[in-house]
Amino acid sequence: MRTVHSLKELRTILRSYRQQGKTIGLVPTMGNLHEGHVSLVRKAAEAADIVVTSIFVNPMQFGANEDLDTYPRTLADDQDKLAAAGNTLVFAPSADEIYPEGLARQTKVVVPEVSEGHCGASRPGHFEGVATVVTMLFNMVQPDLAVFGEKDFQQLAVIRKLTRDLMIPVEIIGAPTVREDDGLAKSSRNGYLNEEERAIAPVVYQTLTSVAEQLEHGRSDFDDLAREANDTLAKAGLRPDYFNIVNSQTLKPASEADRELTLLVAAFLGTTRLIDNLSVTR
Ligand code: PAJ
Repeated sequence: MRTVHSLKELRTILRSYRQQGKTIGLVPTMGNLHEGHVSLVRKAAEAADIVVTSIFVNPMQFGANEDLDTYPRTLADDQDKLAAAGNTLVFAPSADEIYPEGLARQTKVVVPEVSEGHCGASRPGHFEGVATVVTMLFNMVQPDLAVFGEKDFQQLAVIRKLTRDLMIPVEIIGAPTVREDDGLAKSSRNGYLNEEERAIAPVVYQTLTSVAEQLEHGRSDFDDLAREANDTLAKAGLRPDYFNIVNSQTLKPASEADRELTLLVAAFLGTTRLIDNLSVTR
């Protein structure tokens, strides 16, 4: 497995794979890889001849008061995990390589509607940063397919939409959320939790499963259900950001007639922001 840091090297290597007729799968990440990321790489390796994993902590998607500076950077460990998972090439550029003229001069990709609400409301500009860097990665790698986690449900919806709207010839593949044994969704940010917070964190998934069961049993008083979920989170010591019950396709508030629903949750535990989601068919 090779690691390259420049776009020039990346393009040279990919050109030769393409000339050999190989299909290319892309897995965009911010590094500090865990089993969730590794599952995406395995999925990409099943579907494409060669797999490129990008590792880039994208400054454009972080807010001013967020964890850009403290976000864990663990390239050597990440390389070991990627090699074991069947990855072919690691692309680990610097911020200067990706944004040579700085963020203020960067052209932006804005995805209306699906970017609004939920994490888009709590993190202004976040999805512009994600949509822009993912579009750039698509142009840099020109993959046949790209794999993203359902863990970031709204992000996946934003990426599907921009891919369609900009006619980007890449197949978007979603991969299920990988969890710890107690249900907590794996996340690089779980490492910020202290012992006490880590013990509380599984309440997020427990709350999702409890609301999902009630929906499956016919409840459709969505506002009451969301209020009860927020109370459960608060009682456990979390600070809910949002708990929204939405139409799985549009991400708009669920209505009585909807059959495919998704529960979207974000909550703070201390200073750490956890997100998770669960889809229900009724
Ligand atoms: P990052 O948080 O590193 O996640 C990279 C990919 O791993 C995303 O597609 C995410 O949904 C997926 N992922 C994270 N935790 C997962 C889990 N527990 N199970 C399954 N998949 C999981 O998401 C980003 O980086 C960035 O926004 C990025 C798309 C790379 C753009 O900068």
